[in-house]
Amino acid sequence: MNILFLGDIVGSSGRDIVFQYLKQLQTEYAIDFTIANAENSAHGKGISFKIYERLLKEGVNCITMGNHSFSKKEIIPHLAQMNDMVVPYNFLEELHQGYKIYDVLGQKLCVINLLGSALMHPNRLDPFVSLEEILNKTKADLYFVDMHAEATSEKRLMAEYFKDRLIALVGTHTHVQTADERIIGNLAFISDVGMCGAYESIIGRDIDEMIKAMIKHEKTRYEIALGPAVLSACVIRVDQEMKKAIDIKRIQIRPY
Ligand SMILES: [Fe+2]
Ligand SMILES: [Fe+2]
Repeated sequence: MNILFLGDIVGSSGRDIVFQYLKQLQTEYAIDFTIANAENSAHGKGISFKIYERLLKEGVNCITMGNHSFSKKEIIPHLAQMNDMVVPYNFLEELHQGYKIYDVLGQKLCVINLLGSALMHPNRLDPFVSLEEILNKTKADLYFVDMHAEATSEKRLMAEYFKDRLIALVGTHTHVQTADERIIGNLAFISDVGMCGAYESIIGRDIDEMIKAMIKHEKTRYEIALGPAVLSACVIRVDQEMKKAIDIKRIQIRPY
């Protein structure tokens, strides 16, 4: 089984590059299931129902989120229809599903979204306790975790602790791709997949806006950057019989 995971999609630049390359990547790597983190897909914060529908139409099977899950409040009336979106199980408010089980090639694949605790806003539950809880109450063949967290150490610790029970633990949130992809026990690991978003930016935000805000201490709206984008993703190959990841390939498509 081949799983494609796309890192945080940021704004229109990020969406455009995903739509441009998605089919090509799915064909090239014989992808059976595609997951995309879309917590920043609607102008850098949150997701809209329209973007949710478009991502699915283009071939994404499951959307994971993060600390910006509900930044666009207009999705709340649509949540009952957003069955292919998973938000962090340990989010501050329990508004939507924190995991979902899919049938893929005759096996049950459980996709889980969690928020880290280090350097993040307080969560409803500790991520370790949360994952333990999900693993105990579900019956799936394969477990895939999008660990939305700031600290590389927390993500690595999580991978070590759950290495016999997951097929993948991939990090999101920092928007910067790390070069530490590897197999740990049964799972495929990378500290952060990186983002799909404007290449000339500060993690997706406009550079001038960031200078104004951080250096000149002026009030700004932290507008997102536009222009050519980078696509960051990974492909995980799973041995279904062994219930084990056998390979993780890091992908980064830069505009220049
Ligand atoms: Fe993000
Ligand atoms: Fe985030």
